[in-house]
Amino acid sequence: MAGVRVALVTGGNKGVGLAVVRALCKQFQGDVYLTARNPKLGEEAVKALNNEGLSPLFHQLDINDLTSIRALRDFLKEKYDGLDVLINNAGIAFKVADTTPFATQAEVTLKTNFFGTLDVSNELLPLIKPGWPNTAYAVSKIGETVLSRIQARQLKETRKGEGNILSAASQPFTAI
Ligand SMILES: NC(=O)c1ccc[n+]([C@@H]2O[C@H](COP(=O)([O-])OP(=O)(O)OC[C@H]3O[C@@H](n4cnc5c(N)ncnc54)[C@H](OP(=O)(O)O)[C@@H]3O)[C@@H](O)[C@H]2O)c1
Repeated sequence: MAGVRVALVTGGNKGVGLAVVRALCKQFQGDVYLTARNPKLGEEAVKALNNEGLSPLFHQLDINDLTSIRALRDFLKEKYDGLDVLINNAGIAFKVADTTPFATQAEVTLKTNFFGTLDVSNELLPLIKPGWPNTAYAVSKIGETVLSRIQARQLKETRKGEGNILSAASQPFTAI
């Protein structure tokens, strides 16, 4: 299926991830994968979307588990010879009122949100196929964001000690 485009959402069984899967099913021309760490929750979410007339596919993915990440990587390589869109959505957040000790919250949160996402990116980004979003606006904003970061770095060097003198407002655009 090397000619078929494929998009994948991490943590797609609920919340923002589920909404992104729904939107991709409506707009993306190709296969859309809803992934979830818990296959039961993932399959239930797929069924709910099926009831809306949408047809996402499912693959298990726990971003804290390298074996799970690599199984998905190998599957994508084998079936699609790559990946077109990766939406790194899976994440956790303790409620403000949660009484879990701060050190535990920090460890658990960083493990998933930072290191888990890093592991997924390290394993899946090498599969990303070259492409160009079909929206000039999005491309312009990606360029603007990168430009601002470069300018901020230059200003930090040339105008040391003046604090932050550059800020930029730009909508993030996740699709590659
Ligand atoms: N909602 C907001 O206002 C907001 C604002 C800024 C950023 N965000 C970010 O947007 C993303 C989604 O937020 P949300 O509000 O939709 O959160 P949510 O409803 O709690 O959903 C989080 C999703 O991530 C999954 N997940 C957690 N740990 C995982 C792991 N180790 N492997 C795979 N999946 C995992 C969850 O799976 P389970 O169901 O199995 O737990 C769930 O599907 C998060 O990264 C969050 O930090 C949200």
